[in-house]
Amino acid sequence: MTQENQENQENQEQVDIRRRRFLLGATCVVGAAGAACAAIPFLSSWQPSAKAKAAGAPVRVNISKLEPGQQIIAEWRGKPVFLVRRTPAMVERLNQENKRILDPESKNSDQPNYARNAHRSRKPDLLVLVGLCTHLGCSPKYLPEVVPKDFDPGWQGGYHCPCHGSRFDLAGRVYKGVPAPVNLVVPPYMYENDSVITIGKDKDEENV
Ligand code: FES
Repeated sequence: MTQENQENQENQEQVDIRRRRFLLGATCVVGAAGAACAAIPFLSSWQPSAKAKAAGAPVRVNISKLEPGQQIIAEWRGKPVFLVRRTPAMVERLNQENKRILDPESKNSDQPNYARNAHRSRKPDLLVLVGLCTHLGCSPKYLPEVVPKDFDPGWQGGYHCPCHGSRFDLAGRVYKGVPAPVNLVVPPYMYENDSVITIGKDKDEENV
């Protein structure tokens, strides 16, 4: 085998390993939500080719089958993107947690202007977040139930990063006193219609 062929093979193996890790992480997070069956319709909604995704192409996601309280995970620019259909009760609880949130108005966090609001989204019912902890980049677990947890007896539902214990509410806002310094990132996205959103594209700003 020539040196060039060997390098190509090694590069391909690295890509395969990264891909397997991503899918494993995504499966774990969906499984934690108790909605493993959602992975199949979700996976078929990934649109771009591997080449287009590598170039950062926008990704269209069908959200028509996203049930209240359920999370699905898309991939954009090699990152997991969490999409949650929040219930009215979930949205209501956001305002009750503000005193425990580090940056409740998202002044120091990364989101488009249309997501700089109490629910950090275009519409209150749909949460869209880059699923990487702002501490060291692990993928936080979706724990939507309002039940006491070892790490938070007053848990109101949200995300927990088991790596070093960071916690986020159901708008991706970080709690006080954890390692993550800022809220989870909201990517640019837009509604194509009631059933489909595109991640990585703004109506106003085109591809970003
Ligand atoms: S990477 Fe999430 S708490 Fe450290």
